[in-house]
Amino acid sequence: MTRAQLDKRPADVSVMFDNVADRYDLLNDALSLGMDRRWRRVVARAVGARSGQLVLDLAAGTGTSARAFTAAGARCVACDFSLGMLAVGARKPATGLRFVAGDALALPFGDEIFDVVTISFGLRNVADTGQALAELLRVTRRGGRLVVCEFSHLPVRKLNALYERYLSTALPAVARRLSGNAAAYDYLAESIKAWPAQHELAGKIAGAGWSGVSWRNLTLGVVALHEARRPR
Ligand SMILES: C[S@@+](CC[C@H](N)C(=O)[O-])C[C@H]1O[C@@H](n2cnc3c(N)ncnc32)[C@H](O)[C@@H]1O
Repeated sequence: MTRAQLDKRPADVSVMFDNVADRYDLLNDALSLGMDRRWRRVVARAVGARSGQLVLDLAAGTGTSARAFTAAGARCVACDFSLGMLAVGARKPATGLRFVAGDALALPFGDEIFDVVTISFGLRNVADTGQALAELLRVTRRGGRLVVCEFSHLPVRKLNALYERYLSTALPAVARRLSGNAAAYDYLAESIKAWPAQHELAGKIAGAGWSGVSWRNLTLGVVALHEARRPR
């Protein structure tokens, strides 16, 4: 059974996602009690892609979020380094959506190409957060926007402790039954607990050169949405 460790070695992370790809979307719905669908709608509104715009969905996995970005006529590149996840996504083609294999730490795109860049539940899995944010900045046109959707922390300490208990006990137990790959979901729980708090992530985004960084909590802080802009 494959799982990544918190050092997030790229080969371990990509194989782990290859192994869960077939049941990935099903498990997301089950483990989040369907809340992931609402989070994705909020992301799509924040991305707000218009006709003629080009969007990068990085660490796009099976392209579940990316599909919504093309609704108003924008084009979207869904990039990921797990060929297994991309293959599941490519089984359901969509107008304006292209799947591309690539590593967040060395994106296979030229400078200043995209109007909006976004990453959902991906940044936490990348070995070097700062490098990924710098790569996202490089490929975004001046004045373009960044939207990061990631698991986060509940500001109320007692609630957060309860949530962390759910992550460590109930979540792997349900995942074990549904996926047969509990190890990947042990990693999910550990990586969420080790992830920086909302204000710390905002600092990392600003540190990579993005401006006007803001964030809002979804579902009490289970997820946080960070937004920023590339300076002109
Ligand atoms: C939890 S999944 C999220 C998939 C999708 N964004 C979603 O919202 O369902 C994390 C994804 O990040 C990808 N990933 C992790 N590190 C990466 C890297 N360095 N470059 C490209 N993709 C990466 C994994 O392959 C996986 O598909």
